[in-house]
Amino acid sequence: MARIFNFSAGPSALPEEVLKQAQSEMLDWHGSGMSVMEMSHRGKHFSQIAAELEADLRALMQIPQNYQVLFLQGGASAQFSFVPQNLLGDKTKACYIKTGAWSEKAIQDAKPYGDVIVSASSESSNFTTIPDVTHWAVDNDAAYLHYTSNETIHGVEFNEIPNIQGLPLVCDMSSNILSRPMDVSKFGLIYAGSQKNMGAAGVTVVIVREDLLGRCLKTVPPVFNYAEQAEHQSMLNTPTTYSWYLMGLVLKWIAAQGGVEVIEQRNIAKARKLYAFIDASTLYRNSVETTYRSRMNVPFSLLDETLNKEFVTASEAAGLHALKGHRLLGGMRASIYNAMPESGIDALIAFMQEFERTH
Ligand SMILES: Cc1ncc(COP(=O)(O)O)c(C=O)c1O
Repeated sequence: MARIFNFSAGPSALPEEVLKQAQSEMLDWHGSGMSVMEMSHRGKHFSQIAAELEADLRALMQIPQNYQVLFLQGGASAQFSFVPQNLLGDKTKACYIKTGAWSEKAIQDAKPYGDVIVSASSESSNFTTIPDVTHWAVDNDAAYLHYTSNETIHGVEFNEIPNIQGLPLVCDMSSNILSRPMDVSKFGLIYAGSQKNMGAAGVTVVIVREDLLGRCLKTVPPVFNYAEQAEHQSMLNTPTTYSWYLMGLVLKWIAAQGGVEVIEQRNIAKARKLYAFIDASTLYRNSVETTYRSRMNVPFSLLDETLNKEFVTASEAAGLHALKGHRLLGGMRASIYNAMPESGIDALIAFMQEFERTH
């Protein structure tokens, strides 16, 4: 069996150790005589998996005690609608920062529930930068301020947590959670889908400060009401048990690597290498302002776009999977989340170098 290097934006590569462990436990989890898929979510085995999952996430992210950790369904996309419905309360406005396709989606989906104020936007630069935080038009009457810490499609990443006074900070961290340390105490709410840095698709992590609970609209189904789910350990309905289990394995893998700090150093080294190669080449280009280039998603174009198809075909044949860019941007994109080893970056660079030489 030959495993490829998978550059998919999500669902994406998982650590090989995790897959092997899941394989070895597939038929019999820890002497239970069952697969995790076959267990009752209320039984003692799965209760242990669930308790460790939450404890491990709390430890890795140093989540303070006054935050609830929820494991929900519906993806980050559902949270685009349920964040405003849970947090607006008696306020009518919410502030959003527009930095690319995903924050744009969050803005659109929040509009039915209140007045959405776009406090800053980098649209005029085609989303190649992050607007300077000192110029954000923040409305202090708003319920919260929302931003997207890493724009998966545009390849733009905040390199620090915006320093906002007064409003709870809400963050879609779907594509860079656990890739770098984040001080959770600076946030009112963090949400993230599992299928990039945390495991298989199927779980959405919501980390919410307790004082923000209890403002949910009565029209919201209980499974998307944060306070209700917090009260029921995210088990108001049957959870996606196998995805919880896989997330647990990924978290234990991160801890075994040395934690988020060690992972961050690896991510810095991987991204630096790839961007340095792209910048030095005469065929490839990344147009994101250097300071805000994503460590997770590296979009790049070929200066001769007629070569795109050949590049994709040849890279797939070379065992480099899913480099074709998102349809919004065209070109290419290499998603290099935590599970992408440095050898994957080296293989990608070697391929790109040879392609450039022969074209
Ligand atoms: C930053 C960001 N937010 C939200 C989403 C949507 O996630 P889901 O498809 O799980 O709803 C994605 C998916 O790629 C994403 O990258």
